[in-house]
Amino acid sequence: MAENFEPHHILVTGAAGFIGSNFAHYVAREHPEVHVTVLDKLTYAGNIHNLDGIPEGQMDFVHGDICDAELLDRIVPGCDAIVHYAAESHNDNSIADPEPFVQTNVVGTFRLLEAARKYDVRYHHISTDEVYGDLALDDPERFHEGSPYKPSSPYSSSKAASDHLVRAWARTYGLRATISNCSNNYGPYQHVEKFIPRQITNVLCGIRPKLYGDGKNVRDWIHTEDHSSAVWTILTKGEIGETYLIGADGEKSNIDVLRLILAHMGKAADDFDWVRDRPGHDRRYAIDSTKLRTELGWAPKHTDFESGLDATIAWYRENEDWWRPVKEATEAKYAKQGQ
Ligand code: NAD
Ligand code: TYD
Repeated sequence: MAENFEPHHILVTGAAGFIGSNFAHYVAREHPEVHVTVLDKLTYAGNIHNLDGIPEGQMDFVHGDICDAELLDRIVPGCDAIVHYAAESHNDNSIADPEPFVQTNVVGTFRLLEAARKYDVRYHHISTDEVYGDLALDDPERFHEGSPYKPSSPYSSSKAASDHLVRAWARTYGLRATISNCSNNYGPYQHVEKFIPRQITNVLCGIRPKLYGDGKNVRDWIHTEDHSSAVWTILTKGEIGETYLIGADGEKSNIDVLRLILAHMGKAADDFDWVRDRPGHDRRYAIDSTKLRTELGWAPKHTDFESGLDATIAWYRENEDWWRPVKEATEAKYAKQGQ
């Protein structure tokens, strides 16, 4: 039987980033009685303005590194749960420079686990479906909680390592931990290095969108708000020691997603460039989220991808001040890689 847990004060790591900030907004809106402490290093991917609009009394912000054990000794004891989003999160960056991925994703998770153990704090670990490697396009299988770990990239292997640490801490030390592995998120506040925001902002800047390889790679898209509701459900109702896969049956090929973006932004279907493929590029991700749906009663709300994409396009149109300052440097980095 799933247990019920009522958090009062959550430490959310990485909540100045894309998915973590959406979770902080979700908690502030849906559970205003819960206080959130954000811990974020504000790397190139963090933006403190992602948290604008969360009432001051409901949140406080700590600027720091999850690898800093002394800092964790100061902030973890006041919390009754840790939800750990902080990570180096981009595959292409991990291929160009893997070291920060090992440091933040592996060593950082280790430090948090040690703090959670020391202060007996409930711990929820945010991970990715990419730990399972990839599936063939015609494989009838989808990833499930029993799928073997087979990560392909420095990013996904560092996330896989962190998942293994969490399981070891739960089994060996009795840490009250859960893990979730989610598919590709889309929505507001996603960095312009990622596929969907990169193409939307390319069109807005008059740059041709860029498609890797043959464009047939499949990703299983979920709106970030549905990810937030799933994480809340697991944190409060999930069974300790268990893993839950999060997905919303949103499989689409990259070329189909790009063609939707082009159509919704008034561009021709062939108005993009084919570019160099990503080395080791995973072919297909697909999630079977039956366990989360049947055992914990979760269901996604954003089931119409096209309307979610439309709203995301509108958000980038309306928030040019948010992405414009980092766009040029992001494209310069890609240009150097031939992408
Ligand atoms: P992001 O890159 O947008 O944000 C990461 C945040 O972590 C940033 O605010 C950054 O400043 C912070 N951070 C990085 N290193 C840190 C450190 N050492 N100490 C403290 N803060 C640090 O990432 P995202 O896309 O929001 O992903 C968040 C989490 O969700 C990650 O764990 C990722 O693996 C997981 N995930 C992402 C997706 C996706 O589609 N983006 C899908 C499934 C799971
Ligand atoms: P990305 O957003 O980097 O997420 P992930 O690597 O975690 O799946 O990329 C999503 C897909 O889009 C992936 O198959 C790579 C592809 N892609 C492009 O075709 N063009 C791009 O400019 C980018 C950034 C990604």
